[in-house]
Amino acid sequence: MKIQHNYDYGSAYRQSLQVNWQVDDIIGGEKTLDFRRSFLPEVWVDADALDFLSEKEKLTVNHIRSHSYLYLFGFVEEYIVPFVVQHVQGRIHKAAPEELRALLHFAEEEVKHIELFQRFCQEFRNGFGSTCDVLGSPEKVAAAILSKSPLGAGLSILHIELMTLLHYVSSVRDRVDIDPQFGSLLRHHWLEESQHAKLDTMIIEALAQPLSEREIQEGIDDYLAIGGMLDGGLAAQMDMDMASFTRETGRTFSEDEAKRYREVQQRSYRKTFLTSAMRQSQFQSILAAISPEGVQKVAEVADILVPNSDH
Ligand SMILES: [Fe+2]
Ligand SMILES: [Fe+2]
Repeated sequence: MKIQHNYDYGSAYRQSLQVNWQVDDIIGGEKTLDFRRSFLPEVWVDADALDFLSEKEKLTVNHIRSHSYLYLFGFVEEYIVPFVVQHVQGRIHKAAPEELRALLHFAEEEVKHIELFQRFCQEFRNGFGSTCDVLGSPEKVAAAILSKSPLGAGLSILHIELMTLLHYVSSVRDRVDIDPQFGSLLRHHWLEESQHAKLDTMIIEALAQPLSEREIQEGIDDYLAIGGMLDGGLAAQMDMDMASFTRETGRTFSEDEAKRYREVQQRSYRKTFLTSAMRQSQFQSILAAISPEGVQKVAEVADILVPNSDH
């Protein structure tokens, strides 16, 4: 098993120090959200496909999805921190100082990201008219994910980090349409996640190295089970979004509209949080180095979640 890369802990750490930003550089004071504009790029919201809504109502859908995006990112990062801390604990007395520093800095940056997402959520709540409901118990979800094998959890973390690249790239492409502050969040998050993706690659390499073929398959199955868990959470979040939409606009959905909303938004949530990363080339090539069967398995699940024609 050999993953092709030219990363090392020392360079990843030095690059992360160059990028290093502070939460106050991105949000707070004059830096506020402009609710006249979209926050997330349309490609990750698919509000236009809800053609029974007015333009103003589509903007409300965009805002509700942007709020759940901020919340869910903070939510998933809650398990990245203990994963990295546990991994680094196992490396103390074995690894070179630069590896330990890179990994500890990685964990510290994720804590900063949790703070960043919380600050944006607060900013959102200050400007949006009503309450947006969100999933509870991030600690329970974190515990359930961390009960899986380290390879499965590690792959899901690489998935999350690479996903932020896709979200950022689309914000650059659509930059005239979205709120600059939200675009700045996507950009700054990716700048640090790009170092994390390198560290994840090296962590996954180290975790997979001593494993038997059967243990590697278990790791890939665990990665898919974590995806299934997140998919269940996204479906529950979608129902909460519908309630938030009605609370904000006073508009109720007919049976057909509710059905259409669920179809469009389930596909959109899956694309944003699951299949975009499952189909991302860097993710696939890392997976291929560990297990060609794994690539096939992941591609099949992605096709069930969002058929490739809807990609
Ligand atoms: Fe992050
Ligand atoms: Fe990260």
